[in-house]
Amino acid sequence: MRSGMWGRGTATRSRVAGVLALAAALLAGCGTSGASRTSGTAYSRASADGPAQAARPLVVDRGLRAHPKVLRRDPRPGPPHPVPSASAASPTPTVPVAEEAPDCHKVKCVALTFDDGPGPYTDKLLRELAAYRAPATFFLVGRNVAGRPDVVRRTVEAGHEIGDHTWSHPDLTRLSAARIRSQLGRTDRAIEKAAGVVPAIVRPPYGAVNRTVRRQVTRPLVLWNVDTEDWRYRNSARVARAALKDARPGSVILFHDIRPTTVKAIPRVLKTLSKRGYRFVTISEMFGGKPPRLVYGGPGPKAR
Ligand code: NI
Repeated sequence: MRSGMWGRGTATRSRVAGVLALAAALLAGCGTSGASRTSGTAYSRASADGPAQAARPLVVDRGLRAHPKVLRRDPRPGPPHPVPSASAASPTPTVPVAEEAPDCHKVKCVALTFDDGPGPYTDKLLRELAAYRAPATFFLVGRNVAGRPDVVRRTVEAGHEIGDHTWSHPDLTRLSAARIRSQLGRTDRAIEKAAGVVPAIVRPPYGAVNRTVRRQVTRPLVLWNVDTEDWRYRNSARVARAALKDARPGSVILFHDIRPTTVKAIPRVLKTLSKRGYRFVTISEMFGGKPPRLVYGGPGPKAR
C-alpha cells in the first residue's frame, strides 16, 4: 500500500497530511481487509495441485539454484540472514544473491515489488514472473501469510525475495516502539514458519517512517521511486503505463499483487522492460546483497 507522502519526506511529514493519506487509502479500499475476506479460495485451489507439482513450473532458473541455499538456512530464531565472515561488523543484514545476478552499477536493473499479499492472485503472478525468469520482491502482510503459507513457500522456492510489511498494516509512526517490534516480529515468525526464511528487509505501510520507526527497525527500510497507484486505478492498461512511463535504471516499482488488475498488467510490464534492455532483480540483488538503511531506488549505469 502506498502513502503518496514519501516524495515530500516521510520523516518530516505533517500529522494532517498523514491523516489525509491514511484516510484516502482507507476510502480507496487499499487495505488487507479485502484480501482477508477472500483468503479461503485460492489457498484451497493451490493445495489441490499438491505442493511439489505446484512449485515446479513457477521456479525460475536462478531460483532453482538459490533454492537449496534458502532451504538449508537454519529456521531457528536468530539474527536474520547473518553476514558471513567478511562483513561481520556490518549492522546491515544481507540475503543470498543469485550468482547470475547482474551488477546494477553496470547494467540497467529494475526491481518489481509487490505489497500486501499473499493473495488470491499471487500464484498467477508467480507464473508470469517465471515466464520471463524475473525475480521480484514481495512485501508480505503477516495475517495474509498465516492464511496462505503454501503461496509464501512457493514464492521463496521460485527465487523471489520476501520482505516484512507488518502483521496488520498499521501506520507504524502511530505505534509505540513495543508495538512496532511486535508487528514485525509476528510477521517474521509467520514467514519463517511458512517458508523457512526470515525477511532481511522491511517496507513500512504507507511508506510512513519517523524516528521511532527508524530506531526500532534495524533492517533496511525499503520505499520506492515509481508508484503505479494500482490501488487507486484498477485498470491494467493504466497500471502498465504508469510503471513503464517512469521506469529508469535503479527503479523500485510499487505494485500490489492483491489486485487482479495489477497481476494482469505484469506481462506487458515484463515484456516492454525486457525489450528496453532491463534486468529484473530483487531488492537485495540490486545492492549486491547489502541494501542501505533507507531505500528509495537503486544504482544505475553512469552512461546510458
Ligand atoms: Ni501496503
